[in-house]
Amino acid sequence: MNIAVIGTGYVGLVAGSCFAESGNDVWCVDNDAAKVENLKNGIIPIYEPGLPEIVQRNIREERLTFTTDLEAAVKKSFVIFVAVGTPPQPNGAADLSAVFSVAAAIGRAMDRYKVIVVKSTVPVGTSEKIREILKKETTQPFDLMSNPEFLKQGAAVDDFMKPDRVVVGADDIRAAEILRDLYAPFVRTGSPVLIVDVRTAEMLKYAANAFLAARISFMNEIANLCERVGANVDMIRKGLASDSRIGPAFLFPGVGFGGSCFPKDIRALIDTGRQHQYEMKILEAAAAVNSEQASLFVDKIRKHFRGELSNKRIGVWGLAFKPRTNDMRDAPSVKIIEGLLAEGATVIAYDPEAMDEAKKIFDGRIQLVGSNYGCVEGADALLIVTEWQAFRNPNFERMKGMMRQPVIFDGRNIYDPIPLRQLGFTYYSVGR
Ligand SMILES: NC(=O)c1ccc[n+]([C@@H]2O[C@H](COP(=O)([O-])OP(=O)(O)OC[C@H]3O[C@@H](n4cnc5c(N)ncnc54)[C@H](O)[C@@H]3O)[C@@H](O)[C@H]2O)c1
Repeated sequence: MNIAVIGTGYVGLVAGSCFAESGNDVWCVDNDAAKVENLKNGIIPIYEPGLPEIVQRNIREERLTFTTDLEAAVKKSFVIFVAVGTPPQPNGAADLSAVFSVAAAIGRAMDRYKVIVVKSTVPVGTSEKIREILKKETTQPFDLMSNPEFLKQGAAVDDFMKPDRVVVGADDIRAAEILRDLYAPFVRTGSPVLIVDVRTAEMLKYAANAFLAARISFMNEIANLCERVGANVDMIRKGLASDSRIGPAFLFPGVGFGGSCFPKDIRALIDTGRQHQYEMKILEAAAAVNSEQASLFVDKIRKHFRGELSNKRIGVWGLAFKPRTNDMRDAPSVKIIEGLLAEGATVIAYDPEAMDEAKKIFDGRIQLVGSNYGCVEGADALLIVTEWQAFRNPNFERMKGMMRQPVIFDGRNIYDPIPLRQLGFTYYSVGR
């Protein structure tokens, strides 16, 4: 099949290269000319395990082409995916301007029947607006479908290649069969392809993210209370996880969730509720718990140092919003570091992949060092903010010798408190 993917970010690049990997001819379109130029040379702008190999192989084998020419890509393609960003507006509603402008451009470029598929996360009813835009721009026939994406950054290629399910929102069952064929190579082990109406598909994506975000906020709230009553959230988590009605995923307390999806998608769903005179009470609470979680962590640090952070040197391990990505959009690290800087602390930070992103965000206001131990030298405290695998088993003896004060604030509960205290560390974590 000839496919165009418009928007070559975390979702579009993964989808486009995985479709190429399964034998299709794919044109990945982006309006960021520098990004396209790099991709043409096999330079990947994001860190995503397994992605460079697939991109480079499919460029080499001439199934994957990067371009800024949307019109040409649309003309060559039968199926066109829209995967541009839908960032939050100040009031929480999704900003759909990129989706709508791409829809208009697709309409103008259409020269025959096309299948247009919205992969961006968009509020319920958006596809109907896109249909109107397309109809204004073209008299050519088309089918419009919704195909929300469920990949997780950090495991995006695996998730795309082996999805738990594929959701196709279609008002025409024959059009849905086109997507079923396209996804057939990825669901050979029996994952379902759920064919639903377009509005249900749009809603399903938000429901999934909102549920996962609510689970994390629920556990953070339980952890916060554990701290106050002297219970251990680790054992509570294990007890909950072994209940077959609950299960183990997304029960880890910490410094709050971040990233480009959960925070924005909850806010957009709350906004959709508001537009339909319905208050999303659980999600309002999940968002409120989350926005406080990073500040509670900073409070803990402030309290330890009796409110005096101005002469303190604080090391930070982990800046990306989660491990195995370089993405710092809405990362808790940003809130925490801004909180420390506002108190006058000196921050020295390291992340295995997000250093370039951090440079852009902090612009010289923090020191970035080339190794995790570099943050520890002379530090009054070390914070664990992102649970990268490489941070799980460090040389604590060496660290203790390097630090001005052996204090660790573990925002991800990756260490066992007992041996750390035996080694002489003052150790804080979340809910333990
Ligand atoms: N990141 C995730 O894990 C994830 C998972 C599932 C769904 N989603 C959803 O997928 C969508 C894309 O997310 P993302 O993280 O890939 O975003 P992103 O910001 O990484 O990528 C968007 C890309 O679109 C390009 N773009 C913007 N306007 C354009 C235009 N007019 N023409 C051509 N290209 C244009 C940008 O240059 C950018 O490269 C969002 O709606 C998001 O909510 C994201």
